[in-house]
Amino acid sequence: MTTLVTGARGRVGRVLIDLLRSDGRPVRAGSNAPEELSLPTGTESVRCALGEPETFPAALDGVTSVFLYAQASHADAFLTEAERAGVEHIVLLSSTAALAPEDVRNPIVDMHRDAERALAAAPIASTALRPGGFATNALGWAQSIRTEGVVRLPYPEAHSTPIHERDIAEAAHAVLTADAHRGTGHRLSGPESLTFREHVEHIGRAVGRPLTVEAVGPEEWKRSVSAFMPEVYADTLLAAWRAADGVPEEVAPGVELLTGHPARTFAAWAEEHAAAFTA
Ligand SMILES: NC(=O)c1ccc[n+]([C@@H]2O[C@H](COP(=O)([O-])OP(=O)(O)OC[C@H]3O[C@@H](n4cnc5c(N)ncnc54)[C@H](OP(=O)(O)O)[C@@H]3O)[C@@H](O)[C@H]2O)c1
Repeated sequence: MTTLVTGARGRVGRVLIDLLRSDGRPVRAGSNAPEELSLPTGTESVRCALGEPETFPAALDGVTSVFLYAQASHADAFLTEAERAGVEHIVLLSSTAALAPEDVRNPIVDMHRDAERALAAAPIASTALRPGGFATNALGWAQSIRTEGVVRLPYPEAHSTPIHERDIAEAAHAVLTADAHRGTGHRLSGPESLTFREHVEHIGRAVGRPLTVEAVGPEEWKRSVSAFMPEVYADTLLAAWRAADGVPEEVAPGVELLTGHPARTFAAWAEEHAAAFTA
């Protein structure tokens, strides 16, 4: 009854491992870098790189369920090996991007839509979790908050419904451990639509000092992330934020449906993560 959790260094995967282990369930943590993992006692680990199909057989041997990060490039090889190993259920960490209209194409939509399609075509039961923007994305502002008390944003009034990583992990835990919500897709979100400016205000309250939001042009923002973000991703994010500028996002019922409790607020997330924003 072992569950393979891929992307085990990731923010969702790591919490999910703790949840499964606290039930006493057998877990194998799969990661590109298993040597960097710090795991609960009794948790197996294995090198499982979703871009390297040769790592799949050992990772999947003896596994009955999988928490899978979306990577479409070797989905078919992964699913063939999962079927051979006797996997009965795969829970995919997908995205609301997978629900975009058919004619919308960008790297984020394509990655999640292609992964969902591969799973739907495979002879293994699967469940797609489709969160919107993660609360943890705000950690990308941590350095400028710590050093300058400033966040520079191209669309400060763009809305999202930030979701706590623990709520996604708890939703995955629920789907992996009970049959009720298996075999379908669930849209997940935080409990409220907030502008980026409101995110920053919540972080300011959590760290106990006012923070400044500085509006910057899209091109200036692109230059500021060019060292670590490919241009096509930067353009995709800018287009999404432009579309969400001043437009509240619909709250999804998935967290409460799957976990039995309301989704955690961004204010609570900011308090929990305040140390990351403190010099
Ligand atoms: N961020 C969002 O707003 C959002 C929204 C909707 C859906 N999603 C989905 O959720 C996935 C994860 O999102 P995320 O942006 O929050 O990423 P993340 O969970 O922080 O990391 C993603 C993966 O990167 C790998 N990784 C490589 N180097 C790492 C390092 N130094 N430390 C930690 N992990 C490292 C990890 O897998 P290994 O341990 O195998 O290396 C990890 O699972 C996305 O890929 C997307 O499919 C994200």
